[in-house]
Amino acid sequence: MFRSRRTPKGGGVFLEMDTAKAEARARGLEVVDLSIGASDLPPPPEALQALKQAIDDPATYGYCLKSGTLPFLEAATEWYFRRYGVRLEPRREALSLLGSQEGLAHLLMAIADPGDVLLMCEVAYPSYFGAAQVAGLEAYLMPLGPDLLPDLWAVPPAVARRAKALLLNYPNNPTAALASEEFFAEALKFCQHFDLLLIHDNPYLDQALKPTPSPLALPGGRERVVELFSFSKSYHLAGFRLGFALGCAEAIGSLEALKAPIDFNQYPGIQRMGMAALGIPQARLQADAQTWANRRQAMVAALAEQGWTVPLPEAGMYLWARLPAGLALDDLQFARKLVAQTGVALSPGRAFGPGGVGYVRFALVQPEAVLRRSAEKIGDFIRREAQD
Ligand SMILES: Cc1ncc(COP(=O)(O)O)c(C=O)c1O
Repeated sequence: MFRSRRTPKGGGVFLEMDTAKAEARARGLEVVDLSIGASDLPPPPEALQALKQAIDDPATYGYCLKSGTLPFLEAATEWYFRRYGVRLEPRREALSLLGSQEGLAHLLMAIADPGDVLLMCEVAYPSYFGAAQVAGLEAYLMPLGPDLLPDLWAVPPAVARRAKALLLNYPNNPTAALASEEFFAEALKFCQHFDLLLIHDNPYLDQALKPTPSPLALPGGRERVVELFSFSKSYHLAGFRLGFALGCAEAIGSLEALKAPIDFNQYPGIQRMGMAALGIPQARLQADAQTWANRRQAMVAALAEQGWTVPLPEAGMYLWARLPAGLALDDLQFARKLVAQTGVALSPGRAFGPGGVGYVRFALVQPEAVLRRSAEKIGDFIRREAQD
């Protein structure tokens, strides 16, 4: 019988939730999907306009080699300079991606050998687990402290010495935690000590009201950090599959070489769309950041009214909540039964790794009024369950 190698496991929890949502819909329930982090806010009109114009330009119709991505990479490095004050070399220190998820999975294959260790958090974006597996890496899962950050120096030195990279993501999915510049400086020191690449997956930087730090901008960052950026969360363009990697020229070069036999870069029209998005004024991004802040506040308050105390994060489009006490349901049972009975879909915490058992993630991708109504339904559900 034909057998594939290294088929990634996982995705099972999301498939189960997908089935549960479909069943709820089939029974006539209106499903409010707070389980997927797909932004419902509108993309910048000038970005869509740039794409529409590109479609009428035959110069965008062919294969796009690296040189064809240079205008985009120049826009990306210029954006980074405006944002963090560090000027990067577009040809050597930047690469266009088909989204940050694609970039990360290929980066791991590019910089590590099968059997190497990847240091990552025990609660993380699900694709990290699959990406590590596809690259043949042994994921060492770092526990999170009360501040939702890992204690890097608690990693056994024997493990850290076998590792090739440390993977971080702040503002975080699913916990919505932020990391300080001091934390990143310590992470960089740790990576210098053990000769690791520091990979920072940074798609949520615009979902905070104050600027978030970039480890690439720290002294020594350019030699040891690759940071991944995305158009999915800042500009609400997830379906267009565009992102970019910035940083360590050695790692960027390896990623470019690995991707060469795989893809021909994103459609130039979509790259032009991205360039238009990168040019929009920061004040407009702040308006979206305020929308996310208002939603976080509204949902935490609405859940509190129902007796469920959930921490209020300072960034991101998610709430990360420990299940209310006194229920005879685990996080997967809770999420499945909740959608079956109320139509409100959440993500069970275990989808984000072993550290997520007993938690659920809310994606705040609906207007405040819908979030409030959902909180009421959740409250009714919890009270019914507590009586059983
Ligand atoms: C931490 C993190 N990284 C990457 C992605 C995917 O980004 P992209 O759409 O650019 O591939 C997501 C999407 O939810 C995410 O949460």
